[in-house]
Amino acid sequence: NKNIVVAIDGYSSCGKSTLAKALAKKLQFIYVDSGAMYRAVTLYFLRNETDLKNHDLIIDALEHIDLNFHSRDYQSHILLNGEEVSEEIRQMPVSENVSPISAIKEVRQQMVKEQQKMGKSKNIIMDGRDIGTTVFPDAHVKFFMTADPKIRAERRFNELSAKGENVSLEEIFENIAHRDFQDTTRQESPLVRADDAIILDNTNLTEEEQLNFALEKIMPFL
Ligand code: C5P
Repeated sequence: NKNIVVAIDGYSSCGKSTLAKALAKKLQFIYVDSGAMYRAVTLYFLRNETDLKNHDLIIDALEHIDLNFHSRDYQSHILLNGEEVSEEIRQMPVSENVSPISAIKEVRQQMVKEQQKMGKSKNIIMDGRDIGTTVFPDAHVKFFMTADPKIRAERRFNELSAKGENVSLEEIFENIAHRDFQDTTRQESPLVRADDAIILDNTNLTEEEQLNFALEKIMPFL
């Protein structure tokens, strides 16, 4: 009776966290948004006006960053050195700088270590880019999500606009395409489908259809 681990990887803004949260709620699993961790680290360096090209500085400063999750409501409430930053990490300055920061080997090593600890004893669903390949290569179920980039940009645009953020569809489309490029081409655990990951293209699927599809794959392990 080992705890169950579900890994969800995929491109930017293709609904990974929406599906992960719905699954976590349904199954009473813990949801962990690994992207929020890379975003919070990025926010730390933006706030400190660190030269983001200076990797030595960044690596040295990692020990001053303490990340914690509140998993109430299965929402990704993340604390950066004790301060809730869940909203701020979704804004464009972070989105525009997170991929280069998350490409740094030492940053990834620290995040992966913390993520693996979270999956040690509890049933969890974690989403990200390298969960099924690097963080939990032995996950019980792995999904690899994808969707038409135009649809992804529209969904994210609607989400950010609803929150009152002043961004254009164009800007979001560019950011998504750029992050996908950086995430799939980096040296250190790039975004790639694990051989045993189930592909889920949700371009034409409702949230309920995705949930049912995923539940069916997880059921045998419950
Ligand atoms: O999932 P989200 O889009 O919030 O992730 C933001 C960025 O964090 C990604 O574009 C990627 O550069 C990085 N990331 C990563 N590995 C993960 C999760 C996120 O490199 N497991």
